[in-house]
Amino acid sequence: MKRKLLLALGQFAFSILRRVDYYITGSNSGLPPEEEIRDPYKVWKILRSNGRILRSYTNRGWMVLGFEEAQQLFKDTRFSSDTRKNKFISRALRTASPDGRVTFLDHPTLLQLDPPDHTRIRKLVNHGFNHKYILSMEPRIAGIVNDCINSCDAATGQFDIVQQLAKPLPAMVIAELLGLPSEDLQYFQDMSSRLLGVTAIGNDEAIRQGTIASDELIDYFEKVIADKKSNPSQDLIGRLIVAEEEGDRLTVDEMYSTCVLVLVAGHETTTRLISNGVYTLLQHRDQLEMLKRNPELMSNAVEEMLRYEPPVQLMPRYALGDMEFYGKKIKKNQLIVPIIASANRDPTANENPDVFDITRKNIKHISFGYGPHLCLGLNLARLEAKVAFNILFERFPNLTLADQEIVWTPIPLVRGMKNLIVNLNEGGSVKQRQDQ
Ligand code: HEM
Repeated sequence: MKRKLLLALGQFAFSILRRVDYYITGSNSGLPPEEEIRDPYKVWKILRSNGRILRSYTNRGWMVLGFEEAQQLFKDTRFSSDTRKNKFISRALRTASPDGRVTFLDHPTLLQLDPPDHTRIRKLVNHGFNHKYILSMEPRIAGIVNDCINSCDAATGQFDIVQQLAKPLPAMVIAELLGLPSEDLQYFQDMSSRLLGVTAIGNDEAIRQGTIASDELIDYFEKVIADKKSNPSQDLIGRLIVAEEEGDRLTVDEMYSTCVLVLVAGHETTTRLISNGVYTLLQHRDQLEMLKRNPELMSNAVEEMLRYEPPVQLMPRYALGDMEFYGKKIKKNQLIVPIIASANRDPTANENPDVFDITRKNIKHISFGYGPHLCLGLNLARLEAKVAFNILFERFPNLTLADQEIVWTPIPLVRGMKNLIVNLNEGGSVKQRQDQ
């Protein structure tokens, strides 16, 4: 009862703050929520015209919209990734959780740690992402892409890019990377999508399921790691077990949380890169035709897709003390959010930023973050995307969008759609709507 009352009061306060942000700070676009979800770039453009760093009372902090400012924020160690250091937010998250447990507070991963713990663990985890080893996965990735495409229904000639390619591909690649048995694939695919529920504040059931999934995954990895200790392997887990830096090794707990992080971080994100990339190319037919004529443009095209439709749209940071940042007075513990989706479209970084141009020179984006937390899986994600696009457009040169309504995820952290149906030859009309 008390919790319900607290939540109702919270929701009331939230609606007032949204108004303040609209009328006073300019950090709320005033657009209807459905439109914000359908075209977040329109929102960021409106907000950027009000300032490059804006106060937001809704999130009790700041949003950073300019490219240079967001990049600096990512590398500035006066800002923390560790939510446990912020008592107000930790308490709010625990109140929102039905049983008071919050996975990323109870089992923080690399992503939620600051130096010196972050520096120490990252050095060790780096051993698992050896570049040569990642590149050696290319033939296997190509095999998985072909298997996914073979699941296309020849009778209808239709194919769901999200469900039949963009989701299973990264899951299978991560299973290979971690060295997990292929029969467990469905299990950890389900667990990792349930785990995302821990971020769904206000949705008790999703949070509860996410916390259960986290416990189950930790038990699962405990068994896998014990097995690999007695049967040494060359996969990422095998490498983590033997990784050593100046006499230091990962503890068993650090190994579990790293495995869970890799599973989640490398899965949803790459799914979005591939499906958003195919959608963007099919919406910009001239660019797709140019790419087909000039396959050497593929690497640049993938960077442009990352810039134009970043799979991760924002990441939170907290101020560790009172300070000045680009002339703004930031107070200790305030939340400050680099908005990747806005920074990538900042015209001071990329000319004509709303134009999708696969020949763009010197593309500037922070879709993999920047500084100490720069994505560890960026080379793997790029490789998966390149192999998937090459094979897809080679096998289906006349791929077009089918008639459908595009359903965008309502979670602002990630940008992606539920399904993307394509057909081999005929075109279709595309409507857009938000997920419920
Ligand atoms: C298109 C795909 C991907 C995108 C857009 C992406 C994006 C990001 C971003 C923005 C960060 C930085 C977060 C921050 O600064 O707080 C990050 C960190 C990380 N990513 Fe990725 N990622 C992708 C794929 C992958 C893959 C495939 C893996 C692993 C297989 C991976 C593993 C990680 C890890 C371990 C970190 C934490 C690094 C640290 O905290 O030091 N990511 N990623």
